[in-house]
Amino acid sequence: MSEYAVKISGLWYSPNGGDSILKGIDLTIKRGSCTALIGPSGSGKTTLFKMIGRLIKPNKGYISLHGLHSDLKKEKLGYIPQQLGLVRSKTALENVLIGAHSRIGFIDTILGVFPTKEVDNAMKCLEMVNLLHKANEKVYHLSGGERQRVAISRALMQGPDIILADEFVSNLDIATAREIMEMMIKVKGKDITLIISTHDISLARDFSETTVILKNGIKIDEISSSELDNNKIKEVFT
Ligand SMILES: Nc1ncnc2c1ncn2[C@@H]1O[C@H](COP(=O)(O)OP(=O)(O)OP(=O)(O)O)[C@@H](O)[C@H]1O
Ligand SMILES: [Mg+2]
Repeated sequence: MSEYAVKISGLWYSPNGGDSILKGIDLTIKRGSCTALIGPSGSGKTTLFKMIGRLIKPNKGYISLHGLHSDLKKEKLGYIPQQLGLVRSKTALENVLIGAHSRIGFIDTILGVFPTKEVDNAMKCLEMVNLLHKANEKVYHLSGGERQRVAISRALMQGPDIILADEFVSNLDIATAREIMEMMIKVKGKDITLIISTHDISLARDFSETTVILKNGIKIDEISSSELDNNKIKEVFT
């Protein structure tokens, strides 16, 4: 088994043949690690996430996941988009069950027909993020932090090897953001590889092992997150 969760080589992307958004990205991410992606707005973080999540295709270069050339099953990638992608009119539990759609089938997921085993699984995922007591609450009644937990549960429900979390916890107050980050690190354990993008440097420094810095679509640096000091931050954001 490959020691690496993600290996990216010479990745270029220009939608519709226009200007390049990603310019020759090389990146290797170790299995079970937590990596933070930082960079100014528009630097290409979400684009890179979408490409790892195979929502868009590169013009040049390749991405291999777990040593496989694009063969890691899609459900093994838990993608938590910036806007979380929850169905607000459904309950927390129903949203988590959507994470099992590849096992349940699309039609049954839409109809809300879920095997008892999957409902039990979904309850366990909610319990992992301390949200079991809100299982039957509609998402529009939940707080921002609780919604974030539902999105994490839904990703866990997929049984992922890799979780991609774009602008993770960015809409939350600092205390809640840190609390959720701590929980995320705990539930991911050694088996899940976590990649987050964030504008919060202290979150990157305190919770990830490695920080990758993007600027104008170029990977300008890759450092141990403990090295994220004021000089580095100035270099990135000015
Ligand atoms: N399909 C597309 N067509 C044209 N331009 C695009 C497309 N997708 C992204 N872009 C542009 O590519 C650049 C990078 O976008 P991206 O969303 O990856 O940035 P980001 O680093 O995630 O920014 P933020 O921190 O604001 O979320 C932006 O200038 C954006 O407008
Ligand atoms: Mg983005």
